Formats: sequence, structure tokens, C-alpha cells
Amino acid sequence: MKKENFPSEKMKLLKKVFELSEISKSLVLFGKTMGFVPTMGALHEGHISLVRKCLKENDFCAVSIFVNPTQFNEKKDLKKYPRNLKKDMELLERENVDFVFVPSEKEMYPDGLVSNARAPAISKSLEGKFRKGHFDGVCTIVKKLLEIAPCQKAYFGQKDFQQYLVIKKMVSEFKIPVEIVLCPIVREKSGLAMSSRNKRLNAAEKKSALSLSKSLCLAKKMVLRGEKDAGKIKFEMKKLIENEKLSKIEYVEICDKENLVPLKKISKNAIALVAVWVGKIRLIDNSFL
Ligand code: PAJ
Repeated sequence: MKKENFPSEKMKLLKKVFELSEISKSLVLFGKTMGFVPTMGALHEGHISLVRKCLKENDFCAVSIFVNPTQFNEKKDLKKYPRNLKKDMELLERENVDFVFVPSEKEMYPDGLVSNARAPAISKSLEGKFRKGHFDGVCTIVKKLLEIAPCQKAYFGQKDFQQYLVIKKMVSEFKIPVEIVLCPIVREKSGLAMSSRNKRLNAAEKKSALSLSKSLCLAKKMVLRGEKDAGKIKFEMKKLIENEKLSKIEYVEICDKENLVPLKKISKNAIALVAVWVGKIRLIDNSFL
């Protein structure tokens, strides 16, 4: 039923904007739904969880792989970002993804690498404070992708919770008719949130990186025991992270999950968010409290 009227069951690799755009248009004509999973590749189980949800909830699933230069505030980070298209394609093929969009830089930015979308105000705190221009770059590329490939639902991970909120606000401001779906954080057995950047951690750093998820567990435990003072919880989280020699805190914050305003007292909307440098790698994680 699902793929009737479509010539091939095989995953299609698309490199050109017009190819993706044509396909999206014809799906609309056939009355089919499409879900979209934007990624930067180096795929892991976290990405795959989004893909599986997308496949389940839509007739067709499109995944994009594009390491977006405008969202990197450090050239070195962009250069070192892991890339493994062959393995990514194998993983997506195994999941029975319908379309993989892998455009070139020129295809996405024909007029040069500029961010022409201004991210909404919710982007200013937390990540936005430490990564200038990052969310303008994210909004620019996601807006382009959603305009090229109009779809019913687009999938984002809670791992980048602020990114999810920024994109939700952005599509609402630009009146892009798409539902932004939030997917839970996938973790390694150790508790470490999966991330393409984990590949760059050595064994000692990987151990030290557990301070992020451990601090979030501690926060959750304190709340369960009745602690309401966000300051006290943040103090204990920071103490735990600072105990790890290789970890350096960028922020530890407890906010309202609707608007990211910092909370003094824990409410049902509380979310704890952390950003920590482990050696030369910057990691983020969060948890609803
Ligand atoms: P990337 O880091 O490749 O992540 C793609 C999507 O996978 C994001 O929505 C991210 O939140 C989600 N994700 C990553 N790790 C996850 C985990 N452990 N569990 C659940 N979901 C996880 O985020 C980006 O790319 C880019 O900013 C992008 C949106 C593609 C724009 O360039």
C-alpha cells in the first residue's frame, strides 16, 4: 500500500535541490505524507531513533545529510566534524529509508555561506550565548530544507533541546506548515548521550564525559526527594562535574522548558541543561526534572 505508484522500493540518493523538490511535490499529488529528518551525518543510534519514528508515522521518509558550515562558530570544529557517507548510507538503507538528500555546499548556498534567517529570541541564552551565530546558521539551513521539501512532520532530538525550541518558534514565525516532532535522547549503556562528537573522545575523556549524565541524574534524584531550590540543585551538579579533572563547565542551568527562562524554584516544567568541555570536545546534555 505504502509505496504503490512509486517506481522503485530502493532508497534514492538525491544530490540536487530540484530532485527533492520534485519528489515532494509528486507525493502531495498522490496524497502521500512525507516526514523529514535533517542531520549532519556520522549517524548513530540517536539519529536512527528519529528515522524509525519518521518511517512509522509517514508514508515516506526523507533524511538529509549536510554538514552545514554556517552553524559552526569555529572553523576547526567544522573541519574536524566526522564524515562517513558510505557507512551512513548503509545504515539508512538497512532502515528502508526512501530518500537521502546529500547536497553540496554550492547546492545549498549558491550565493555564498551566509545565514539569511535570524533565529528567534529564544536562541539568545544557553547555547546561543556561547556559540555566536550558531542558531542563525541552523535556522537558515532548516528553513531552506523545509521549503525545498514541504513535509507534514520534521523530527528533532531532545539532545539539542534548545535547537528544537528554536526551530519550533522559527517555523511558527515563518508560517511553515510542518509539525516539529521531539524525540527522546538515546544514550550509551554508560549514560553518555550519543553524539557524533563522542567519536573524538579518548578513553579517559569518555569516562570524564559521564559527569554530564551523572549530574542530571543527581538533579532528578534531588527533585524526587523533594528539593525545590534550583540554586541548591545546580550547586550540587556543578560540584559533581568539577570533580572530574578533564571536565570544564560552560553552563549548568535549570529552566522552564517552554521558554528557557531560568527557574529559582522547581516546577513541573523544569529542565536541567548542561554544556561541558571535556578536553577539547564540547558536549551538551539535558533532562526534564
Ligand atoms: P545532528 O547533530 O546530526 O543531529 C541531527 C538530529 O539528531 C538532531 O535533531 C539531534 O537533536 C538528533 N540527535 C543527535 N543525537 C541524539 C541522541 N543521542 N538522541 C536523540 N536524538 C539525537 O542537529 C543537527 O545535526 C543540525 O543542527 C541540523 C538540525 C541537521 C541542522 O544542520
